[in-house]
Amino acid sequence: QLLYKLMYPHRVPLVPYLFPWIGSAVTYGMAPYEFFENCRQKYGDQFAFVMCGSVMTVYLGPKGHDFVLNGKLADVSAEEAYKHLTTPVFGEGVVYDCPNHRLMEQKKFAKAALTRDSFRSYVPKIVEEVRQFLDNSTYFGNKSGEAVVTGATPELTIYTASRSLLGDEVRAKFSAHTAQLYSDLDKGFKPLNFVFPNLPLPYYWARDNAQKAISDQYLEVIDRRRRDEKGEVHNRDLIDGIINNCTYKDGKKLTDRQIANLCIGILMGGQHTSASTSAWALLHLGQKPQYQEMMYEEQERVCGRDADGKLNDITYEDLQEMPFLTAVIKETLRLHSPLHSIFRKVLRPMPIPNTNYVVPKGHYVMVSPGYSMMHEDYFKNAHDFVPERWLEVDTRKDTEETIDYGFGEVSKGAASPYLPFGAGRHRCIGEQFAYVQLGTIFSTFVREMKWTLPEGGKLPEVDFESMVTLPKHPAKVVYVKREEKV
Ligand code: HEM
Repeated sequence: QLLYKLMYPHRVPLVPYLFPWIGSAVTYGMAPYEFFENCRQKYGDQFAFVMCGSVMTVYLGPKGHDFVLNGKLADVSAEEAYKHLTTPVFGEGVVYDCPNHRLMEQKKFAKAALTRDSFRSYVPKIVEEVRQFLDNSTYFGNKSGEAVVTGATPELTIYTASRSLLGDEVRAKFSAHTAQLYSDLDKGFKPLNFVFPNLPLPYYWARDNAQKAISDQYLEVIDRRRRDEKGEVHNRDLIDGIINNCTYKDGKKLTDRQIANLCIGILMGGQHTSASTSAWALLHLGQKPQYQEMMYEEQERVCGRDADGKLNDITYEDLQEMPFLTAVIKETLRLHSPLHSIFRKVLRPMPIPNTNYVVPKGHYVMVSPGYSMMHEDYFKNAHDFVPERWLEVDTRKDTEETIDYGFGEVSKGAASPYLPFGAGRHRCIGEQFAYVQLGTIFSTFVREMKWTLPEGGKLPEVDFESMVTLPKHPAKVVYVKREEKV
């Protein structure tokens, strides 16, 4: 440390390591939050570590979020950090495989399919998908039983997201073959691929084949719509949304192949994040079934019953009237931010405000909103699942580090401890859709069944080896369908 300090007086402390190139990759990769906590105790909020030949400068806490996520375009680059991982999976010409200003416009194109009107039409489709899944799937198809949520929620999320965002046509074509393709593509989205994006191995070939085959499928739908609908304007889903809005400000257009690839990128952005959130919510609700009853009562209060005593179908408007359901989602995201680390490549030296430190060009800067969201500095009883905290302003500690984002609202500011959807120019565009999708899924679950954790009632550990913070497979719940037909 002393030598390092003498050599680089303007660098943040570097975590010592034994093996060159590998550095702290293993300790960080196996338990990132524990690693951050240990480092914070030794070095404070800013420190650096070596990971597979790269130097990552971590800045923990809300000020760090602001420093990195609101970094200037000339200072930090997400595409330089992510593109080698994402381009083989999403395909060429979109997201990080293009200049940042193109991505910003692509996000706007996609937002056309993420409006209130579209959400209104998505809710009944999602309900139908969840009901079918609960009636027929190998996971929840019986009257009672044990279900592996880490298997169930990724499958269910593909059905609900593709039915709503890609439309009935894509969903109807789902088969065992398509499931295999999605699974092959998914395998390209692993932490290992950050380090080795391309190797001459079957697993990489399967990823590349799957990317091409799925992109071809979407391309076929785009072709057919263009051919049969001859310029009629529809707003059914993401594909329509992007077809209607695919001209950049400079007059250039996304090609149809790029539209197909953008659909893959956007679906992928929501797939793992939502599947992980669903799995954790089911587990927490299984551990504290009293919350299922509170959610059920909320369904009764907001949706009401028809003349036969059956609960009325849930609508998009109903979801807006359900603070407890929203609180369950918020609390799940607080404890299980699907992305534990967010990082950018540094393009020019970045002085850290109010310190003598400068992060050199070529290093990476990293933040972990997930770390802050589980820290006692910002949330009382930070490790407990307490959805009620989102209903009562007083339960959150107010420190000068936090900004007043108003309880019940999700923060849009970067200097906040609560940032499950990121902040700044790369902020998530899928937040509202995620709330609609998850809210509809959880509402349907509590209407159809009750569940607990298997004997022992312990939550599974986090699997940090996957791309998102999934529960360790196989995480199970024990369910029994409600007698009353809902
Ligand atoms: C970006 C989280 C769902 C599409 C992000 C980022 C986070 C995030 C943290 C910022 C990444 C960064 O700064 O590097 C989540 C969570 C979700 C979710 C927790 C659900 C629980 C979705 C869904 C979609 C989506 C459903 C699509 C419908 C995107 C896109 C970006 C993004 C397009 C922008 C990437 C960029 O500008 O670099 N998301 N997301 N996400 N997300 Fe999500």
